[in-house]
Amino acid sequence: MPRFEPHPPRRPALIAGASSGIGAATATLLAANGHPVALGARRADRCEEIAAGVRAAGGEAFAHPLDVADSDSVKAFVAAATEALGDPEIVVSSAGDLGAERVHELDAEAFAAQVQVHLIGAHRLVSQVVPGMVARRRGDVVLVSSDVVRAPRTRMGAYVAAKNGIEGMAQALRMELEGTGVRASVVRPGPTMTGMGMGWGAETTAEVLEEWVKWGLARHPYFLKPEQVAAAIAAVVATPRGAHLTLVEVQPEAAVERPR
Ligand SMILES: NC(=O)c1ccc[n+]([C@@H]2O[C@H](COP(=O)([O-])OP(=O)(O)OC[C@H]3O[C@@H](n4cnc5c(N)ncnc54)[C@H](OP(=O)(O)O)[C@@H]3O)[C@@H](O)[C@H]2O)c1
Repeated sequence: MPRFEPHPPRRPALIAGASSGIGAATATLLAANGHPVALGARRADRCEEIAAGVRAAGGEAFAHPLDVADSDSVKAFVAAATEALGDPEIVVSSAGDLGAERVHELDAEAFAAQVQVHLIGAHRLVSQVVPGMVARRRGDVVLVSSDVVRAPRTRMGAYVAAKNGIEGMAQALRMELEGTGVRASVVRPGPTMTGMGMGWGAETTAEVLEEWVKWGLARHPYFLKPEQVAAAIAAVVATPRGAHLTLVEVQPEAAVERPR
């Protein structure tokens, strides 16, 4: 008798923030790997387009509106996805957006709004999905964090605070889940070319990048593709039972230099 039951053949995955970037790429890859996927974001039409693409490729996908800043919306998303695909075996928290303000220039409401989406939004998903996973004695929770936890950046203080909150919560959650069969993992992307920060405007972007260079943060100009972060998330959830990828940081590889 094996110490761990293998993963079941059908593993529905709920993806929050699936209308763009890392969430969209994760939904597409998990579907290609055979998972039924539920895509949620505020732009439900974009989720539906991606879901239609998955179905056209022979996969199983469901789209539903989701605002992780609203508890009722999270409840409705999880209930509808469960009804459509069955009990969730995987939940991926990838919703978020980013301002470019300095901490002391943000008013309390704007600061709280970022924490609402990034940190409390992740907790809303956990509180809706994890109790069922614990009862079923299995499941994967993937919280998308950021390398700003290891190396904070200027002009995103509320985000840095929220991502540190996510990793603190994930550590406590992992301890509490020990022995339940439910794995809580953190995936920490470095700079990734997505919709994030695209609303800043050229002047702000140039200013922010200059500050990051000053702090030694933009050491080479390469960005990850969202598909590369999705590959890490897919690896985390595909890890056979008995092992647990607790924290995976993904960085863009620098260009290969010619030997001197
Ligand atoms: N890009 C990077 O360099 C980078 C680096 C490290 C970590 N990350 C993290 O990666 C995750 C995904 O971001 P991304 O880079 O893929 O950016 P993105 O392309 O802008 O995607 C963000 C997703 O979050 C959704 N979203 C935003 N607010 C939401 C809300 N209140 N409720 C539900 N969904 C919401 C957006 O959809 P709607 O607008 O349709 O709701 C979108 O689907 C975020 O947690 C981000 O912090 C990104």
